[in-house]
Amino acid sequence: MNFQSNFQLKEYNTFGISALAKEFIAVSNTDELSTVLQSNKDIFVLGGGSNMLLTQNIEKLVVHVNFKGIEIVKEEENFIWVKANAGENWHEFVLWCIAHDFGGIENLSLIPGNVGTTPIQNIGAYGVEIKDTFESCTAMEIASQNLKTFDKATCNFGYRESVFKNELKNQYIITDVTFKLTKKSHKINTSYGAIETELVKNNITNPTLKEVSDVVIAIRQSKLPNPKELGNSGSFFKNPIISKADYDKIKQNHPEIPHYIVSETKVKVPAGWLIEQSGFKGKRFGNAGIHKNQALVLVNYGNATGQEILAVSKDIQQTIFKKFGIHIEAEVNVI
Ligand code: EPU
Repeated sequence: MNFQSNFQLKEYNTFGISALAKEFIAVSNTDELSTVLQSNKDIFVLGGGSNMLLTQNIEKLVVHVNFKGIEIVKEEENFIWVKANAGENWHEFVLWCIAHDFGGIENLSLIPGNVGTTPIQNIGAYGVEIKDTFESCTAMEIASQNLKTFDKATCNFGYRESVFKNELKNQYIITDVTFKLTKKSHKINTSYGAIETELVKNNITNPTLKEVSDVVIAIRQSKLPNPKELGNSGSFFKNPIISKADYDKIKQNHPEIPHYIVSETKVKVPAGWLIEQSGFKGKRFGNAGIHKNQALVLVNYGNATGQEILAVSKDIQQTIFKKFGIHIEAEVNVI
């Protein structure tokens, strides 16, 4: 194992922020991870780096989880259980499943990051969340180096939430994730408006997994910047859930406000819409800015510091609070 000091993390976070790790180690299996954890407890765990904003150097040992491998662990007539190690690139895993005609995660195509971090915030897009196909995951407890299996119930998934972001924060490192996928009679989910529209445009009536994936990729490419070209971390904020009463008040002045019903008393409104209405869409502030096609995405024009991006995010939060009385919460982890 190769420990490196003052290690540059720019290539290891999709925002492309320059920051140094006091020490850095990449681990490729649970034995290596266990060895590292035996003598280092105060660590920072790094997966695909697609959901964090680095606002400072990390004065700790950064452990990069780089476990590779995909394995079929169980098979029945209609379902297949596939285990992927934490360091597998998520999108490549999705494409692997589609190539084998295993269904359930095609709507989650092109989401940046690695497999191991997908349960932490229950990634979701286009009507599907990871929890829909999640069977279990294995995680190593940092304190004891014991491996533990977490089933779906224990993960306590919510909208961009799980036990790993809450009660068990910084206590476990996910080492692999198992998904229960369909082998036939795939449940194609085109409920999300833009998918249906794109399919109709392409004259597709009975889409295959690959066709759904292709459409999702096309939609994402039209709205979301490619982190390799323009540093970003996907949605910077969560869509806020507000009371029906507050929603009704806003609706009086903005009858067109998009919304999703959460319960009888709660409504989710798109933060992207609130940001656009507040005049930020496409704006640039020095090296940082708000993407022109999707206001929920903050971007690094090249040399932004994490502090610059954080300042823009605070400006957005304050403006929205003043205008709509709504607090929007960051979705990315601000370090
Ligand atoms: N909207 C605007 N202006 C904008 C952006 C959006 O008015 O600049 C409006 C749209 O017109 C639409 C609504 O907001 O009516 C929703 O927009 P969109 O379909 O683009 O989705 P979103 O709610 O902004 C969420 C996820 C995305 C995911 C998409 C598609 C969150 C925080 N974000 O965005 O996830 O890809 O739905 O399912 O829930 C991510 O988490 O990193 C991410 C990209």
